[in-house]
Amino acid sequence: MKKLSLDRVLQTQGFGSRKWCRAAIESGEVCVGGELVQDYRAEFDTSDLVFSVFDEPWQYREHVYLVLNKPTGYECSRKPSHHPGVLSLLPEQFARRDVQPVGRLDHDTTGMLLMSDDGAFIHAQSSPKSHIPKVYIATTHDPVTPELIARLLGGVKLHDEPLPLSALRCDQVGEHQMEIVLEQGKYHQVKRMLAAAGNHCSALSRVAIGQLALDTLGVAEGDWAYLSARQIEKLVPSE
Ligand code: URA
Repeated sequence: MKKLSLDRVLQTQGFGSRKWCRAAIESGEVCVGGELVQDYRAEFDTSDLVFSVFDEPWQYREHVYLVLNKPTGYECSRKPSHHPGVLSLLPEQFARRDVQPVGRLDHDTTGMLLMSDDGAFIHAQSSPKSHIPKVYIATTHDPVTPELIARLLGGVKLHDEPLPLSALRCDQVGEHQMEIVLEQGKYHQVKRMLAAAGNHCSALSRVAIGQLALDTLGVAEGDWAYLSARQIEKLVPSE
């Protein structure tokens, strides 16, 4: 059991500075389990703790694990320069508790982006050693051919990589579309592999990570959702 004072609860959940949280509590803006609490020193067990701030309900979470269905035109970097950042698509509490994207998608890539404030989870997901397959739908400028698929499966050489990189799986799904599965997460990897194989990627969307497919989550483009423990398990490859 972990007990925290109410001002600490709010602060850990990203509502603002200790000072801001105390003022919100003292002015009657915070309820716990449906009861108004105006003493910021009051302590609560954080397991299953439900509270509201300005009438909006929240559940205490030690860490958050989110999926964002990323639209085009947003950057994943912490200091976006040319486009708005993906954090601007989430409630501002998340930025304050240091939620960050797990890996990166290009500004013009859409689809499944994990976000979390759990450093161990971010590391495990992004480490090249974890071999987590990522599934993309790539739209190509020139038609997809069996030779193109064979080249991507056989391995293509990218100029700054010592060894050829190959797709784990690659299937044609339309005249100009393929589903391509990669285990690594190198910079612009799908686009560069397609270019090295003699085609051009004109649109890219990530549709699954591990065994978790975006279309099973009911998250519309531009929206986000919390991931359940069972969904998180599906992100890790089974032995
Ligand atoms: N590969 C790319 O080229 N871009 C992405 O955003 C993801 C994978």
